[in-house]
Amino acid sequence: MTITTPRGTQTTPLVPAAPPPAPAEPSDTVTFSVDGIETTVPKGTLVIRAAEELGIQIPRFCDHPLLAPAGACRQCLVEVWAPGRDGNLAKMPKPQASCTLQATPGMQVKTQHTSPEADKAQHGVMELLLINHPLDCPVCDKGGECPLQNQAMSNGRAATRFVDVKRTFPKPIAVSTQVLLDRERCVLCQRCTRFSEEIAGDVWIDLQKRGAQQQIGTFDTEVLGFAGDVPVGASTLDTSGRPFASYFSGNTVQICPVGALTSAAYRFRSRPFDLVSVPSIAEHDANGSAIRVDHRRGVVLRRLAGDDPAVNQEWISDKDRFAFHWQSAPDRVTTPLVRRRLPDGTRGELEPCSWTEALDTAAAGLQAALGADGSGVGVLPGGRLTLEDAYAYAKLARVVLGTNDVDHRARPHSAEETAFLGHHVAGRTLQVTFGDLVAAPGVLCVAYEPEEEGGILFLRLRSSVVAGRTRVFSVAALASRGLERLDGTLLAAAPGTEPEVLDAIAAGARDALGETAEALAADGAVILVGERAATVPGALTAVLRLAERTGARVAWIPRRAGERGAIEAGTLPTLLPGGRPVADASARVDLAAVWGVDDLPATPGRSADEILAAAADGRLGALVVGGVDPADHADPALARAALDAVPFLVSLEVRRSEVTDRADVVLPVAPPVEKPGTFVTWEGRPRPFAQALTTTQLSDFRVLDRLADALGADLGLRSVADVHGELDQLGGWDGVRVDAPSTAPAEPPAVPPGHAVLATWHQLLDAGRLQDGEPYLAGTAKRSVARMSAATAAAAGLADGDEVAVSTDRGTVTAPVQVTDMADHVVWLPTNPRGGAVRDLLGAVGGTVVRLERVGRSDHPEVTAHAASGLTGEAAEAVAGVRVDEEERA
Ligand code: SF4
Ligand code: FES
Repeated sequence: MTITTPRGTQTTPLVPAAPPPAPAEPSDTVTFSVDGIETTVPKGTLVIRAAEELGIQIPRFCDHPLLAPAGACRQCLVEVWAPGRDGNLAKMPKPQASCTLQATPGMQVKTQHTSPEADKAQHGVMELLLINHPLDCPVCDKGGECPLQNQAMSNGRAATRFVDVKRTFPKPIAVSTQVLLDRERCVLCQRCTRFSEEIAGDVWIDLQKRGAQQQIGTFDTEVLGFAGDVPVGASTLDTSGRPFASYFSGNTVQICPVGALTSAAYRFRSRPFDLVSVPSIAEHDANGSAIRVDHRRGVVLRRLAGDDPAVNQEWISDKDRFAFHWQSAPDRVTTPLVRRRLPDGTRGELEPCSWTEALDTAAAGLQAALGADGSGVGVLPGGRLTLEDAYAYAKLARVVLGTNDVDHRARPHSAEETAFLGHHVAGRTLQVTFGDLVAAPGVLCVAYEPEEEGGILFLRLRSSVVAGRTRVFSVAALASRGLERLDGTLLAAAPGTEPEVLDAIAAGARDALGETAEALAADGAVILVGERAATVPGALTAVLRLAERTGARVAWIPRRAGERGAIEAGTLPTLLPGGRPVADASARVDLAAVWGVDDLPATPGRSADEILAAAADGRLGALVVGGVDPADHADPALARAALDAVPFLVSLEVRRSEVTDRADVVLPVAPPVEKPGTFVTWEGRPRPFAQALTTTQLSDFRVLDRLADALGADLGLRSVADVHGELDQLGGWDGVRVDAPSTAPAEPPAVPPGHAVLATWHQLLDAGRLQDGEPYLAGTAKRSVARMSAATAAAAGLADGDEVAVSTDRGTVTAPVQVTDMADHVVWLPTNPRGGAVRDLLGAVGGTVVRLERVGRSDHPEVTAHAASGLTGEAAEAVAGVRVDEEERA
């Protein structure tokens, strides 16, 4: 029979020929055909996926390879013939959704390309979907990259037959301050709701009502029936005053196949066809998530998740997606600056100058510090650098400045950590990968919160938990919301007692500890230890002891994107590139050969804290400082005192900062979007990225190369290729490693009445400088609360909802009390919320004993919360607008 379709004339048999006798199938594969093309696929493969493999495109909206099949939109209908029980081929009575249908042996699938019935069914579904759709493509953000727009053209009718009034809704609803919902555009595919349930585990958006009024809606305890499951109180509010949504909500904007979900920050800013897209790597954490940077006329307008199955799959955190304006902030340093001496000898203001003058001034100041009367130079590169930039700091310190006083750790650290990194981390790549993590039967987190400190790692871990492969355990003071969504087991430990708990696991204690030991003894188990472990004496030593006893592998996970690469590049005071111990003569010989120098400093240098202490005491002549914020150090006051006291300060910075404000010479450097480079993930996986924007700004390594030039030395690092060439030439280190740490736990501190031990960790969204200029994102950060057990609160005369002042001799942080089921004599505060940075205000890290005092009742229920959130401009209006919409809806 000959059939004419919109795509031309095809000859299709009315009844397909009987299939040839099926060959005996291996039990794990299935042979069937799509549009007459025979294919063999693994058992369980969905028809839509098998068709993709054959290059046959079936239209779809709800189907997503990383979400469970839903069959919600019906756009992917195909004609299906399958052998019945009698072995004869029979046609299924109606077209079938190919996204929910698994291929079976001998099945014959006919898509819209060969079946008029499938084609007609798809046209019918498309017509139905478009009945209520506003067809506002010219003003819709998705216009130009919209699957509905594209498939309406390829699989829809040329003209509408609908003449009635379309369904409308008040619009847009701000689901959160950063995600807006235009319900009339929605095709009810449920990708967003499935993502929030299946992947993120956040109940912030769901399908509501039935029939013609069926719609996607916001978190609503009455409509969605979450009351009782999700407590709505201070701890579950975001800073805009609405129930906390999700750190991953931006993914729903990206996977929404129409323009129903849009980003407040990008809405109406650009059309997709005006954008230039460049693949890149996110700079916010040590995961190295693949992203796509979209820019227009030199301005980045949005970032999307890239697709990398080995790392982030197709997801990124909201921080990776929305926090990019810092790179073009108004306080960017764009020209070199020098601080000239006034006639009376005092220091003047910073003034713009030429590169030649800035480099000559910097060289003269450093030369003076290196001279006979000077006390040497310390180098503090910071943890946000690319591998190439960190390598240049490491080489400059050793070859030009003649010192091992270099340390990138702008955070609490310890000698135990230095030994741990040298022994267990440096030079060891891909010992544990994302793939290992999601295959691990047991994962123990020590001083590490996967959601708050790991971002996308949390989603990967959760996918494995949901699939029933992995059990998660955590040694922490309390069960975080992230741990609850990992269905994890808390091994409660007051700060400082973690080594005791780890040793108890190793000793095979009973109950939860025994279960943990059992899970860790299973093949493939992993211990994830965070950088916070450096604040607990003996913790890293105990982690290695536990790993040895159980056979579990250990992965150390820093927070910043540049930390892992910096270790490989040699910016620790005890390590040369590749994990070569400074004190090892043969390691120095390796370097001397590549660097072309005869003598490298042989004595291990001072740590960042020791460098700062030396500078504050007048024992250092100069500092070269990269992207470092004094407030991030364990003792911000010491860091500031050091910067004030050091005789000569050179700052390489992207933006004006506390360091540039004190510097004698400021050398501007490019942010990641304006330079090529490589981040190294916590796994040790290199993640190279290209320069996205054209710029005149230089990478740190090129600036340091020119600085070395001004000092009369040749660093030889004029391009990324130069750095890679040297690193390749060096190769790995197979000599003796730094000894493992063997630090004893500290005695638990005495906790007087009215006091508690501080537990603290960073939340994913906080007052970090790389989140500046993002009011919509800031609105979705969690509210700051002080968590403590009922007993701890009662002992301090506090109750749930009271405002508590948490103090040390340095200062005070106030927050509402959230009574929590957690270890007694402990108070938990977020490390760096807006207006309440623990290190800065209290001068304290985890384990410090703090005072608790009641200062009144919390006066910020939901209604007033957003007013106190610091939201301004459009974000505040978005919140206000939503409230009006919701009232109208009610
Ligand atoms: Fe699908 Fe978008 Fe509607 Fe969610 S809002 S159901 S993703 S069309
Ligand atoms: Fe198959 Fe939606 S894509 S039903």
